[in-house]
Amino acid sequence: MTSTTPRRSRFGAAVIAVPPLALLLLWVPLAAVPRQGPGAPARTPEQVYRAACLNCHGPHGTGVPQPTLGFDVPVPDFTDCSFATREPDADWLAVVSDGGPARAFSKLMPAFRDALTPEEMRAALTYVRGFCADEAWPRGELNLPRPLVTEKAFPEDEAVLTTAVTPEGGTSVANKLVYEKRLGARSQVEIVVPYGFRDSGAGWVNGIGDVAFGFKRSLYHDHRKGSIFSVTGEVVLPTGDEKDGFGKGYTVFEPFVTFGQILPGDAFLQFQGGVEIPSDSRKADKEAFWRTTFGRSFSQNVYGRTWSPMVEFLGFRELEGNRPTYWDVVPQMQVTLSTRQHIMANVGVRVPVSHRGGRRTQLIFYLLWDWFDGPLAGGW
Ligand code: HEC
Repeated sequence: MTSTTPRRSRFGAAVIAVPPLALLLLWVPLAAVPRQGPGAPARTPEQVYRAACLNCHGPHGTGVPQPTLGFDVPVPDFTDCSFATREPDADWLAVVSDGGPARAFSKLMPAFRDALTPEEMRAALTYVRGFCADEAWPRGELNLPRPLVTEKAFPEDEAVLTTAVTPEGGTSVANKLVYEKRLGARSQVEIVVPYGFRDSGAGWVNGIGDVAFGFKRSLYHDHRKGSIFSVTGEVVLPTGDEKDGFGKGYTVFEPFVTFGQILPGDAFLQFQGGVEIPSDSRKADKEAFWRTTFGRSFSQNVYGRTWSPMVEFLGFRELEGNRPTYWDVVPQMQVTLSTRQHIMANVGVRVPVSHRGGRRTQLIFYLLWDWFDGPLAGGW
């Protein structure tokens, strides 16, 4: 839309006269973009974008400068791939359909559900997606719900506090704070700080565990096929106190691969497989592990809270002689807590299913904060 000739609105002149440009901008796209009647030729993504979005988001998707806009909420830069690839289409459609507040953004991002058809909203989004053409950035669709144990393939900016409670047989509470930071399009560094409490029989003891550092790199991703594959190297240092049971007393190198696959019907599969290699082969043997997660996401009221029931199958075995293979299953439920969907919780139980002797059921839960998307206290 190139002409912004004022039209008569149902609010009369007051709308134009009060806080001039901001309201005008909100009103123009909605008033000037009548739904097309049935049988009318479908508009191209570019036509929809020009008619409905260009006024604020600009011809090149970088956003109209604020002095011109007349409001001080910054308009995002869709050519910045680091920002523009993070959210899946469903989240952006929520914002386009129901307006900024659908994801706790400003209401200056208007709701288009009455002005555009669902096809036109998708078309506008297709055009918006075109502003970041760099395929190196994996799309937000591939950022699958985080299981309690299995690591993800997607590189991300997150902080996760996980607590595992073993209620019987020497009660213990193991906490783990994971901080992940993305580096560029495909890489991520992470630090893991465990902190535990344990009933030693002669009272409770507590202490820091073995701190780990990791580097992850996504080697392959294709959001049309719904696949992502990454490799990670982790070093677990013997920072924990061995005699209180919080540390192993030797360094462990942990290389592993991770794979995520979107399945039909909002279902997904995630896999992690690797080995733990101790620095001191007299103290421990190498151990292989493999973890598979199946799950599915459900959205409440189309664009509302997301529930993701999942089940993990965890296998591990020492790579020495005739050692047994252990299996655990972890049924769990992840749910988004904030409107922005950047704060989530997951709760489940880890149940040993083979060689149960001495192995206890654990209650595990986490609180996850996708810190790139907003502050802890924001976005509710
Ligand atoms: C009246 C001005 C205006 C119009 C018209 C407008 N937007 Fe926006 N849009 C905004 C503002 C302002 C924000 C930032 C909101 C915030 O950060 O609180 C935004 C944010 C967004 C976001 C980003 C949400 C996120 O995850 O950060 C998307 C996607 C978006 N707009 C798409 C569109 C599309 C598609 C159209 C056309 C159908 C459109 N907008 C029309 C003002 C507008």
